[in-house]
Amino acid sequence: MTTIDTKWNAGLYDDKHSFVSKFGEDLVTLLSPSAGERILDLGCGTGYLAHLIAESGAEVTGVDSSADMIGKARTAYPEITFRVMSATDLHFDKPFDAVFSNAVLHWVLDRESAIDSIYKNLRPGGRLVLEMGGRGNVEEIVLNTRKVLTRHGHYLNAATQVWYFPSLGEYATLLEKRGFRVRFATHYDRETELNDNENGICDWIRMFGNAFFRNIPETAIPALLEEIQESVRPTNYRNRKWYGDYKRLRILATK
Ligand code: BEZ
Repeated sequence: MTTIDTKWNAGLYDDKHSFVSKFGEDLVTLLSPSAGERILDLGCGTGYLAHLIAESGAEVTGVDSSADMIGKARTAYPEITFRVMSATDLHFDKPFDAVFSNAVLHWVLDRESAIDSIYKNLRPGGRLVLEMGGRGNVEEIVLNTRKVLTRHGHYLNAATQVWYFPSLGEYATLLEKRGFRVRFATHYDRETELNDNENGICDWIRMFGNAFFRNIPETAIPALLEEIQESVRPTNYRNRKWYGDYKRLRILATK
């Protein structure tokens, strides 16, 4: 499989896909931050959840691999420390009491390095609270994207691996192998209403799945997107709304 980096559009992310952060709000409840704790928000995006965590009085640091996202986060929440950093290469002088990560770890194909990096930056007894796409996540969208790309002869694009959606057993095993104790884990369905317009799937793929279209002429992309959108209409559209067939892993583990 080919693997590819995604370039983020931080403005579009906040304007049209703010549900990503909204759904992360109850993950903050699972984190249960308290005043004075040092907490790392791994993959903080534009900083909304880092800010929510900081309201507890915790000392929050947000990191993201996208400089565009970090630029927006710094402007929105100047009182919080934000750094551009990769999940596989976290480096800080002092370990954290907790690492929090919402909707990010499925972007990190080198999962073992990410888990190792998190582990090294937690104090003994510290906790990792994460949510990510699990096995079967957005499956209809992914399968139909591959089908349409193949139908049009874009074989390399169709084989692109954009995300890593592990089963619960697989990810818990990786965490345990590195030394974590998995205290809570669930793999649940969360049908997610997408952007409120007729092109919800096209918009979603444009925002998150752009890597599938690398080297395809810009002029050819809209027709491909529409074809994908039509092919998931039977499964992902009802009552004049588009839905993503999200399947999430939610885990709390301690070092
Ligand atoms: C997710 O949060 O599950 C997700 C978001 C964007 C692309 C793929 C998965």
